Amino acid sequence: MSKSILVTGGAGYIGSHTVLQLLQGGFRVVVVDNLDNSSDIAIKRVAELAGEFGKNLSSQKIDLRDKDALTKIFSSTNFDAVIHFAGLKAVGESVQKPLHYYNNNLIGTITLLEVMAAHGCKKLVFSSSATVYGWPKEVPCTEESPLFAMNPYGRTKLIIEDICRDIQRGDPDWKIILLKYFNPVGAHSSGYIGEDPRGIPNNLMPFIQQVAVGRRPALTVYGTDYPTKDGTGVRDYIHVVDLADGHIAALQKLFEDSNIGCEVYNLGTGKGTSVLEMVAAFEKASGKKIPLVMAGRRPGDAAIVYASTAKAEKELKWKTNYGIEEMCRDQWNWASKNPYGYCGLPDNSN
Ligand code: NAD
Ligand code: UD1
Repeated sequence: MSKSILVTGGAGYIGSHTVLQLLQGGFRVVVVDNLDNSSDIAIKRVAELAGEFGKNLSSQKIDLRDKDALTKIFSSTNFDAVIHFAGLKAVGESVQKPLHYYNNNLIGTITLLEVMAAHGCKKLVFSSSATVYGWPKEVPCTEESPLFAMNPYGRTKLIIEDICRDIQRGDPDWKIILLKYFNPVGAHSSGYIGEDPRGIPNNLMPFIQQVAVGRRPALTVYGTDYPTKDGTGVRDYIHVVDLADGHIAALQKLFEDSNIGCEVYNLGTGKGTSVLEMVAAFEKASGKKIPLVMAGRRPGDAAIVYASTAKAEKELKWKTNYGIEEMCRDQWNWASKNPYGYCGLPDNSN
């Protein structure tokens, strides 16, 4: 009998790619998402891409804070585990609207954990972030590096990590894996699903992509005086399909290791790439020139962040397969086929 997985936020960028990998891996999947930052078209496309496995996917438009609705779902299906992606993630917005972030991310997660506990479902994979390493004093960031919240978004991740550690300590039946993602980019090789941010993108790759398709005139490069090879910020970009596979590896660990407790793993490549290197790789992949405007540093940015991948490689038996070239190729494939994302039309909020 195949295992049933509840995926919160499964219509989103990382969620949709993970749901596809889960279906192709033989899992049954139920997605809950309020579609606050996503489209149900993504779910339909995932079902199509999964072919015969598409029948193992169902999805419901539910807000995680709606405990009655969540309870109904858990009452109708015995889930073997939950992958919890659902949450708001825009750093700047979290500074402007902290209560909105605390309400959505914390109450949503607490409600989920309460309903899981009430139904005896105590295996969880949670989406944390490299943002909790703050401004790292040393790189690569290891799972033992000091943790620091730089903004309300990051604080919600740290608080949820602590909640997870606490509930597992209080009830050893819980088995929890906290995954710290570095910088997810790229798209499924079909170009059929990808990242579709609402409004002006905050992150580098979605912005570059929108310049390449003519939606924005130029990329602003934030900071040219960092102590890096070319003065621009360095990050650890990871292909979203590699990241999705990391979740399958984490699930296997939860199912196979009865002593896992509450464990944390970095998901990155272990390689740092500068903004200018990323632009050059994207220009090569797309054949498009990306006009640049050099500017000062973005407040809150670290100079260099990349992962130590040793723990995930050893204990999850997972490693990345794709490099920057493939990330840019697949990002461009998605962008050129879907220049306005899932809706197919210019978005007036831009
Ligand atoms: P996303 O916005 O594309 O996906 C998140 C999904 O959660 C969206 O579909 C949204 O509609 C849904 N959602 C939000 N609040 C909800 C609620 N209360 N109830 C139900 N659904 C809700 O984001 P993503 O990039 O796929 O990120 C997934 C997770 O990974 C998030 O928790 C994010 O913080 C974390 N993360 C993302 C990155 C990144 O760069 N993309 C990096 C580190 C961590
Ligand atoms: C951002 C978030 C972080 C989150 C991470 C992964 C902020 C302050 N931090 O970090 O919380 O975990 O994404 O999603 O938003 N850049 C430009 N021009 C742009 C956009 C970015 O030069 O228009 C530069 C940045 O200065 C940085 C690099 O590109 O050096 C990557 O930026 P970004 O994609 O936003 O990721 P992070 O800074 O790692």
